[in-house]
Amino acid sequence: MELRHLRYFVAVAEERNFTRAAERLHIAQPPLSRQIQQLEDDLGVQLFERHSRPLKLTDTGRFFYTHALQLLAQTAELQAMTKRVGKIEHKMSVGFVGSTLYGMLPRIIRRFRQMHADLELSLHEMSTMDQIKALKEGRIDVGFGRIRHEDPSVRRVVLREERMIVALPVGHPLADAKPELALHDLVGEPLIIFPKAPRPSFADQVLAAFHDRALKPRRLHEVRELQIALGLVAMGEGISVVPSSVYGLKRGDVTYKELDDPKLVSPIIMSTRMLDESADLRSLRDMIYQLYEDEGMAYLPPPKE
Ligand code: BEZ
Repeated sequence: MELRHLRYFVAVAEERNFTRAAERLHIAQPPLSRQIQQLEDDLGVQLFERHSRPLKLTDTGRFFYTHALQLLAQTAELQAMTKRVGKIEHKMSVGFVGSTLYGMLPRIIRRFRQMHADLELSLHEMSTMDQIKALKEGRIDVGFGRIRHEDPSVRRVVLREERMIVALPVGHPLADAKPELALHDLVGEPLIIFPKAPRPSFADQVLAAFHDRALKPRRLHEVRELQIALGLVAMGEGISVVPSSVYGLKRGDVTYKELDDPKLVSPIIMSTRMLDESADLRSLRDMIYQLYEDEGMAYLPPPKE
């Protein structure tokens, strides 16, 4: 059994049709059917139900599919890492969720560029869940996100936990009500959350914060991204809960208020491939902690090596 067989099998299993699978693989259908037959003969098992239309996997086929996917993902990971180790290319691709742009990300990237002038850095905005996929496929080398997602191929380090704050339209009665607001002060207001998709996202962290305190916002308005949420707040459409780094984004028509509960936080998580020990990644991680130190910022202790 060769890797080619796994790729062919996964395409047929996902397309549930030999013609579409052959198109996806850019090969003719007869050799594809022969390869699948050869695979079944080699393994001595039946992977697809005979004569089912659309094609259906047998129980054995479903078992094989799950493991074939894992093996293909590990192969992509091995390819990406070996290229790095061999320094065929001195590049680093960074994935980030949009809200980290308002935190330390720009300064981190600027400082890292100064430290590694020869390194070709590319930056890609993507959700945390897309970062996990992109890491495994070797499309990015490091991701900065906010969702705590477990994956055996991905190493996650929570760098710091950022307090959530409230964005209110300027002149809103809650702006002067008291020095800090509680989440229950907000339930009477329409709540603007972001990003609407893909989920889970920061929007779900905000909703979970209400839910965990048995609170329900009066009305929800889901929007694509943080800038839209702030724009709607400025228009008086509602209020929004945002990461505290948004303080830096000064606008005359929006007021920010702190929340009184220190547990209302959103993590900033650095994700890398589990087996990737590259010197560039180590340098990036060390530099981030150094920057936190230099700025006197609170951060979570780095995991022991
Ligand atoms: C931060 O704000 O701490 C941060 C943002 C992006 C990447 C790393 C750290």
